[in-house]
Amino acid sequence: MEIKKVCVLGGSGFVGQHVVSQLCERGYEVHVPYRNINRAKRLTVLPTVSMVEADIHDPAVLKNLFQGVDAVINLVGILHEGKHGAFQRAHVELPRKVVEACRATGVKRLLHMSALGGDPDGLSRYQRSKGEGEALVRAAHGEHLAVTVFRPSVIFGPEDHFLNLFARLLWWTPIFPLGSPNAKLQPVYVGDVAQAFAASLNNPATFGQRYELCGPTVYTLQELVEYVAKVKGLKRSVIPLSGGMSSLQSILLGLMPVKMLTHDNYLTLKTDAVCACPFPEIFGIQPVALEAEAPLYLAGVQPPRFKRFIDEKR
Ligand SMILES: NC(=O)c1ccc[n+]([C@@H]2O[C@H](COP(=O)([O-])OP(=O)(O)OC[C@H]3O[C@@H](n4cnc5c(N)ncnc54)[C@H](OP(=O)(O)O)[C@@H]3O)[C@@H](O)[C@H]2O)c1
Repeated sequence: MEIKKVCVLGGSGFVGQHVVSQLCERGYEVHVPYRNINRAKRLTVLPTVSMVEADIHDPAVLKNLFQGVDAVINLVGILHEGKHGAFQRAHVELPRKVVEACRATGVKRLLHMSALGGDPDGLSRYQRSKGEGEALVRAAHGEHLAVTVFRPSVIFGPEDHFLNLFARLLWWTPIFPLGSPNAKLQPVYVGDVAQAFAASLNNPATFGQRYELCGPTVYTLQELVEYVAKVKGLKRSVIPLSGGMSSLQSILLGLMPVKMLTHDNYLTLKTDAVCACPFPEIFGIQPVALEAEAPLYLAGVQPPRFKRFIDEKR
């Protein structure tokens, strides 16, 4: 099987933009369906990318998108469930439709993004839906469809949804009450994740495999938040909350119109997102340390209103 043309679902997202860019660098022709051009427009400058607005939840549309494609990469995922059933739709129903569309159109290669902690019996709805989706994709692996699954810990990099969020929140308050302070995480660099996807695409040794992706160091959430404050030069007291208070905080924050943290996120954090093994050797990657990259992009993070003010003054 020689892969030349790849369709990337979720290509407009944080990880997606890095994956698409890696694929372009390696000479693949990349096809990216999107639902919001404002999120996707940065990809239009990449040389071998074609883009189309599409409803990827419509099985007929999906089959149409996969015609003439050699491989599909599914990165679609959400962290917060706006409407009830959204996790199931994005993490379970869509992967099922993707597998069916691959079969119907003769696509022979599928790379699927799961998450560390994804488990049909997990504590949170996020984990259960990720686990169910992963299981059904893995079950589809066989003679006609070569599947590879990736399970990263939390992913960091410019525009991540994690360190950047804390960098913004820390700005506002000298005292920062932190829920789930002892949760253990092993952040992995987005560039390493993207390289693993791109390297796996044409490598038969990765067919049928599932890879956990982590960076070199395990941290508690408290250590990470304190690190962000230090990098930003902010003197902050990060107050660790007990289990009960963490749960209550997540319920209250979940009621806010802008979702930063929900009770489901709190339940997800009860399972440590750490890898059992080092970064898979097969990809030939020495994972980037958080301390080597994060200060470079966190330095530019400003609270939104302040940034707009600065932009206007330029
Ligand atoms: N970031 C992490 O720390 C992390 C850790 C472990 C696993 N993951 C997994 O990695 C994948 C990518 O995450 P990310 O951080 O890049 O997230 P992201 O920036 O929010 O991107 C998600 C992508 O999925 C698309 N999408 C989301 N819901 C959709 C829906 N209902 N229908 C169609 N498209 C939809 C988004 O489209 P729009 O651009 O239109 O919104 C976007 O292209 C996800 O599967 C996530 O679960 C991420």
